[in-house]
Parts: sequence; C-alpha cells; structure tokens
Amino acid sequence: KTVYILNGPNLNLLGKRQPEIYGYDTLDDVEATCTRLGEEFGIRTRLLQSNWEGQIVDWIHEAREAAQGIIINPAALTHTSVAVLDALNAFDGPVLEVHISNVHKRESFRHHSYVSLRADGVIAGFGVEGYALAMRRMGSLLP
Ligand code: DQA
Repeated sequence: KTVYILNGPNLNLLGKRQPEIYGYDTLDDVEATCTRLGEEFGIRTRLLQSNWEGQIVDWIHEAREAAQGIIINPAALTHTSVAVLDALNAFDGPVLEVHISNVHKRESFRHHSYVSLRADGVIAGFGVEGYALAMRRMGSLLP
C-alpha cells in the first residue's frame, strides 16, 4: 500500500514562514512522522511538495497508478484550484485534506475549499499533527 502526501505552494518554508500560524516543525519533520506511522500501518508513504499547480496535478495523475490513497495539503491552491479538484476527481481511492491552521478562523477567502468537494475527510487547526491524524485515518480506510 502506498499513500501520496502532497503539499502545495510555500509549504517548503514550513517551520520558517509565519511560525506563529504554522509552528516550527518542518516538512522533513512531517515526513519523518508519516514514515514512522506508515510503518505501523503497513503503508509506504511518499511526501512531495511543489509551488507549481501543474506539478501537483501531475502527481495526482501519477497516484492513479502508484497509490491507493492521497493526503493533501493544497495550501493556497485549496481556495483557487478547480484543476486540483478535477485531478482528485479522477483518483479512485480515499482523499484526506489537511490544513495546519484553522482556516475557518482566518480570512474569509480561506473559508471555501474546492478540494473539500472531493475530500473524504478534512482536518484543520491541529498543527502539523493533522498529518499524523490523517495517516491514522488512512490506516483505517486502507485495511
Ligand atoms: C494552509 C492554509 C491555506 O489557507 C494557506 O494558503 C496555506 C496553508 C494550512 O495548512 O493551514 O498555505 O493550507
């Protein structure tokens, strides 16, 4: 079993950008946690990040063959990208949406998510722990 963990624009700066909102853990820390949890659940993980919308779309297409589930923090693309939504609609397995911050407590433009129209579950405001929670849920969804 393989799960793709996709991360959108600016998340390469996780741990450095606006730590008061996103905390001090880096994407490498997130990857280490997800790898460890994956081992527990017999799930191979592949964590990827891009600042480019088309790259995220391409990885979702790749996941159609290579993965059984997707965990995605689309970052700003959450609120803008019909292309990411359409790509996810072409993926058959479970899709879990993660936001580090509580988007509903923030600017109103963050309240709408295109990706939520496809996601089987949404986690927001649990910090980077949200990725670990999503991994646990994947463990139940991909027995
Ligand atoms: C985010 C929330 C988005 O609104 C924002 O554009 C991000 C990160 C989060 O993880 O809280 O870049 O997805």
